[in-house]
Amino acid sequence: MAILFFFSVLLAGFLSKSQLVGAQLHDQTTLLAINKELGVPGWGINNSDYCSWPGIGCGSNLSMVERLDLSRRNLQGNATLISELKALKWLDLSNNDFHGSIPSAFGNLSELEFLDLSLNKFGGLVPRELGSLRNLRTLNLSNNVLVGEIPDELQSLEMLQAFQISSNKLSGSIPLWVGNLTNLRIFAAYENDLGGSIPDNLGSFSELQSLNLHSNQLEGQIPKSIFVLGKLEVLVLTQNKLFGYLPEEIGKCKGLSSVRIGNNNLVGMIPKSIGNISSLTYFEADSNKLSGEIVPEFAQCSNLSLLNLASNGFSGTIPPELGQLMSLQELILSGNSLFGDIPKSILGCKSLNKLDLSNNRFNGTIPNEICNMSRLQYLLLNQNSIKGEIPHEIGNCLKLLELQMGSNYLTGTIPPEIGHIKNLQIALNLSFNHLHGPLPLELGKLDKLVSLDVCNNRLSGNIPSALKGLLSLIEVNFSNNLLTGPIPNFVPFQKSPNSSFLGNKGLCGVPLTSSCGGSSGSEHENDHHKVSYKIILAVIGSGLAVFVSVTVVVLLFMIRERQEKAAKATGVEDDVDNNRPTIIAGNVFVENLRQAIDLDAVIKATLKDSNKLIIGTFSTVYKAVMPSGLILSVKRLKSMDRTIIHHQNKMIRELERLSKLCHDNLVRPIGFVIYEDVALLLHHYLPNGTLAQLLHESAKQPEYDPDWPTRLSIAVGVAEGLAFLHHVAIIHLDISSGNVLLDADFKPLLGEIEISKLLDPSRGTASISAVAGSFGYIPPEYAYTMQVTAPGNVYSYGVVLLEILTTRLPVDEEFGEGVDLVKWVHSAPARGETPEQILDARLSTVSFAWRKEMLAALKVALLCTDSTPAKRPKMKKVVEMLQEIKHK
Ligand SMILES: *[C@@H]1O[C@H](CO)[C@@H](O)[C@H](O)[C@H]1NC(C)=O
Ligand SMILES: *[C@@H]1O[C@H](CO)[C@@H](O)[C@H](O)[C@H]1NC(C)=O
Ligand SMILES: *[C@@H]1O[C@H](CO)[C@@H](O)[C@H](O)[C@H]1NC(C)=O
Ligand SMILES: *[C@@H]1O[C@H](CO)[C@@H](O)[C@H](O)[C@H]1NC(C)=O
Ligand SMILES: *[C@@H]1O[C@H](CO)[C@@H](O)[C@H](O)[C@H]1NC(C)=O
Ligand SMILES: *[C@@H]1O[C@H](CO)[C@@H](O)[C@H](O)[C@H]1NC(C)=O
Ligand SMILES: *[C@@H]1O[C@H](CO)[C@@H](O)[C@H](O)[C@H]1NC(C)=O
Ligand SMILES: *[C@@H]1O[C@H](CO)[C@@H](O)[C@H](O)[C@H]1NC(C)=O
Ligand SMILES: *[C@@H]1O[C@H](CO)[C@@H](O)[C@H](O)[C@H]1NC(C)=O
Repeated sequence: MAILFFFSVLLAGFLSKSQLVGAQLHDQTTLLAINKELGVPGWGINNSDYCSWPGIGCGSNLSMVERLDLSRRNLQGNATLISELKALKWLDLSNNDFHGSIPSAFGNLSELEFLDLSLNKFGGLVPRELGSLRNLRTLNLSNNVLVGEIPDELQSLEMLQAFQISSNKLSGSIPLWVGNLTNLRIFAAYENDLGGSIPDNLGSFSELQSLNLHSNQLEGQIPKSIFVLGKLEVLVLTQNKLFGYLPEEIGKCKGLSSVRIGNNNLVGMIPKSIGNISSLTYFEADSNKLSGEIVPEFAQCSNLSLLNLASNGFSGTIPPELGQLMSLQELILSGNSLFGDIPKSILGCKSLNKLDLSNNRFNGTIPNEICNMSRLQYLLLNQNSIKGEIPHEIGNCLKLLELQMGSNYLTGTIPPEIGHIKNLQIALNLSFNHLHGPLPLELGKLDKLVSLDVCNNRLSGNIPSALKGLLSLIEVNFSNNLLTGPIPNFVPFQKSPNSSFLGNKGLCGVPLTSSCGGSSGSEHENDHHKVSYKIILAVIGSGLAVFVSVTVVVLLFMIRERQEKAAKATGVEDDVDNNRPTIIAGNVFVENLRQAIDLDAVIKATLKDSNKLIIGTFSTVYKAVMPSGLILSVKRLKSMDRTIIHHQNKMIRELERLSKLCHDNLVRPIGFVIYEDVALLLHHYLPNGTLAQLLHESAKQPEYDPDWPTRLSIAVGVAEGLAFLHHVAIIHLDISSGNVLLDADFKPLLGEIEISKLLDPSRGTASISAVAGSFGYIPPEYAYTMQVTAPGNVYSYGVVLLEILTTRLPVDEEFGEGVDLVKWVHSAPARGETPEQILDARLSTVSFAWRKEMLAALKVALLCTDSTPAKRPKMKKVVEMLQEIKHK
């Protein structure tokens, strides 16, 4: 009996062991099959120990796969087999290239606690089978292209804590059962097409901490339920169609830091209980139909940094209590019916950076102490009924970037002290007031100012020629005053439309038709259409630079961080953290862009294929939209050269040096990020694509086809950029039309310069074969010298010039076997073809003058592409030759 017992125990042990081995074998077979299907980098090298493969975590004593992290590996293919890994608890396929439907077989992973499929291209419906994942705590399907409704089967996910389905194309409404998920902490469904109302039990049964539903079609009221348990920290409902009141119960959420409910149809007053939210830092409720007075209770939210109540129906006065808000950075109350004074107490808000009271009924005066708010960058008081004089003390607002006081009842003279505000750039607008007296000479000191508007006042005297100091001026308006005398000879004045000077009976000279005796006004007429274009560009440019310094950006980051912290706090495992790449190094070289650039957002943008702009020899370029609105072009270096990462410090120094390299026709790096083994370089985003796209893609649409003068300017610009590089002893490694970027004005900028510094082939750090440049641009001598030289650059430039002249690709089957553009052009005489037959006939036949210039440029291109390097001209000489053509 005892023996029998012993034997049966032994047998049982043996059986379970063999089962165990079977399970291991099963996982191994499955992983090999998965690897065959997906080709996971680094897998299969050691077949006997799959637990050591990258991204795999095995259970402690059974060697079964419990964790699979295949995020950020550029994977695509059929992921169905993963469902065979029966012990899987943690599956992360985020940031890949998976498309098609989400495998319904994932529903068989009964142990699964964490499923992250975000940042892929999964389409179709959310599979009902996922409802079988009874242990699931985190479900992240965001940033895909999923359609249809949220399937009801998911209501079985009773353990679910984080439910993220944002940035898809989901429709239908938010199911009622979401409110019954008792463990739900984070619910994010923003940027979908969800309609209906927010379930009115949401938050009643669970301690909801973060609710983000912005940019949907949601209707109905904000349910009280989300506030009742008092745990909400982040509420984002912006850009929906919500109506009704903001519930009084919001005051129960002491930890609520961010409330964003703008762009809805909310009505009624802000509840006084808002004062009970001690953590409130960000309150944004603009563009609703809210009304009543601004409640003084906001003053109790001592950490409040932004209060935006713009474009509502608020009335009454600004409560003086708001002056207690020492952290307040932006107070935006424009577009309401507020009246009275700017309360003196507000001047105590030492952190205030933006005060926007425009478009109200304020009817007091501007306090002399207005500049006690020493951080003020935006003072927007236009479109009110403000009386009295502009205080002389305005000159103490040294940080001001924009001063808007137009359309008020201001009297007195323009204080000369405004000239002390050296930072003033975006606009100085004093128009439509009752100002009299002369234009102070001191205004001429505002050398950054782009727009000056003093129209419709009673200003008298001359326009002082000291205003020629307004070096950045683009837009000016002096009309409808009492000004007299000649308009100073200053390009921005003469280039302005005459409407900028009309209504001043005593003014004369260009651009007005009334001459002061002698000078002619016709000379500049032709430039007019160009001017307005430039104004737009410069204003956008300066606006961008300025926008960047708005501190609210920082705030947004802060809030995002909080959101992330909240997510972490409720995360199932600490591992959630590993998901975000650790930035090893990163910097933004341009001081005034620092706040606008979020390095995490940069990384995120490069993980999305839809952001891909250009795939180059050494890098892939992505478009990255920052949370601040700034758009960057981000270059991800191909990891062919790992030494870039290993020689990090050198690289950083090199980049810093390059960022200081200033030439109009060179793309300058503005920053970088290094994480894992990836290096990202940041540049300004140039909206007009590359020269290659302009010549070879848009040429198919005649309206975008660049004419000859445009092409010649581009050719000159590229040559100038390259000549400058050679001047500072930098050899470019990859000159091609694909590396010539065009700004909004079609000014060419030569890119990929840093590559030339980072991959110096002479130091043997780069694999030499990779440094040949782009096919069709490689100089013939490269075959034996294996070195890129200055004359080699001249050759590549010659190929670009030929492209510009012929609108043909550098390599094309049409030329015949082994013949590229250079050979095709050089052998034209042998074929009995005239040069005219090579040039793009659509241009060369337009006019005799164009044809002549094109032939001259062709000569330069032939010299540049001479097969003997020594016979090619220097870049400096090329510039001279081309400029001669241009100016003839
Ligand atoms: C493969 O795995 C085995 C067992 O873990 C280990 O002993 C061996 O060193 C590994 N070989 C390689 C090349 O990593
Ligand atoms: C590991 O093995 C021990 C004894 O062999 C067993 O008691 C334990 O349950 C196993 N742990 C797991 C997680 O399977
Ligand atoms: C993916 O593979 C599974 C078997 O592993 C197969 O049943 C399924 O049809 C495949 N799906 C696609 C879209 O090819
Ligand atoms: C789930 O597993 C069962 C049993 O192993 C199998 O019959 C079924 O096809 C699987 N489901 C899917 C969707 O693969
Ligand atoms: C998906 O959501 C989970 C839960 O909030 C989070 O931990 C994870 O980082 C998200 N995935 C990505 C790629 O952001
Ligand atoms: C949610 O739970 C309540 C009570 O716990 C129940 O009455 C209701 O039917 C549930 N709603 C859904 C949609 O499951
Ligand atoms: C706000 O706090 C006060 C006292 O601190 C309390 O009396 C009041 O009920 C609270 N209001 C809300 C809506 O929580
Ligand atoms: C205000 O912010 C500070 C700094 O972030 C924090 O320490 C403090 O707890 C906050 N106060 C409240 C009431 O939340
Ligand atoms: C401002 O307007 C309000 C309401 O129209 C009026 O009561 C008040 O007297 C005005 N104040 C001044 C200083 O004009």
